[in-house]
Amino acid sequence: MLTTYTMPHGEIVAGLCAAQASISPKYFYDQQGSTLFERITALPEYYPTRTEGAIMQMHGQDIKASIAAAATVIELGAGNCEKARVLCNLLQPRCFVAIDISGDFLQQAVNGLRNAFPALDIRAVVADIFDQVHLPPDLPSGQRLVFYPGSSIGNFDPEMALGLLQRIRGLLANQGALLIGVDLIKDVAILNAAYNDAAGVTAAFNLNALTHINRLIGSDFNLDDWHHHAFFNAAQSRIEMHLQANRDLRVSWIGGERQFRQGERIHTENSYKYSVPGFAALLERSGFRRPQAWSDPRQWFAVFLAEI
Ligand SMILES: C[S@@+](CC[C@H](N)C(=O)[O-])C[C@H]1O[C@@H](n2cnc3c(N)ncnc32)[C@H](O)[C@@H]1O
Repeated sequence: MLTTYTMPHGEIVAGLCAAQASISPKYFYDQQGSTLFERITALPEYYPTRTEGAIMQMHGQDIKASIAAAATVIELGAGNCEKARVLCNLLQPRCFVAIDISGDFLQQAVNGLRNAFPALDIRAVVADIFDQVHLPPDLPSGQRLVFYPGSSIGNFDPEMALGLLQRIRGLLANQGALLIGVDLIKDVAILNAAYNDAAGVTAAFNLNALTHINRLIGSDFNLDDWHHHAFFNAAQSRIEMHLQANRDLRVSWIGGERQFRQGERIHTENSYKYSVPGFAALLERSGFRRPQAWSDPRQWFAVFLAEI
């Protein structure tokens, strides 16, 4: 049975009212946002998904040889479960647990996965991975593998990422490993293009957060008043995504309101870019052991495996 997740209104309002307004990137992902993200992954400028896929194709057997047979694979932010198909074919686990905040989209993805893998025990958990995640109590005993692809770890600043990695250790229940996709530092023009695609899909994805927030807190954001703004912040080694006000305006919601000046921004996402040694050091700081990394020939992306 699918568990449910209720978005916390207080957190949204606190973000909107902060001196530097912000919306957590988790609010990108309603049904429409998840569909838009799927379109982003196919864009010519958006290299992460296809590069990570190519690494899994090229190095899959080496990765498999480095992983003790996993009875259960647990994917964080499973999305459309496309990468789960590749991994489950490779590792043949007994059980697959898909965790995501976008419940309806996850349910559809899991239904498709069940058709493709009728013998696999597949569970769907709708949760915010920053809250305490309750795994189904009856998972098979034996080794676990937490799979966290898509460079989503980059959405968190290094200290928050450290905290998340430590909590992931808890999901492993003392046996198993983490397989995680990480976007690497590269030419700024390539990074900027990936978040400013010519077709405007990333802009639509960013703006959709306002539609989602309107539904959640009863606000009256008008999407015509805002535009997408994304750039690489070299000092912080991160892409930043913002929504910028086109004019002076006021946004109201049930129980509150805020004025925005023309040019003022709402910060919607960071995407930190790492070096291979830098991310290996973060894994080790969080308590993971023996990190190994596989990359593509251009060194644009890396897939890390680390033991508990
Ligand atoms: C960048 S997409 C990656 C999707 C897929 N894993 C991939 O690699 O293509 C991030 C996924 O994580 C989910 N997500 C975002 N924030 C989350 C959170 N706080 N807790 C759980 N899932 C989250 C989104 O719904 C989305 O499916």
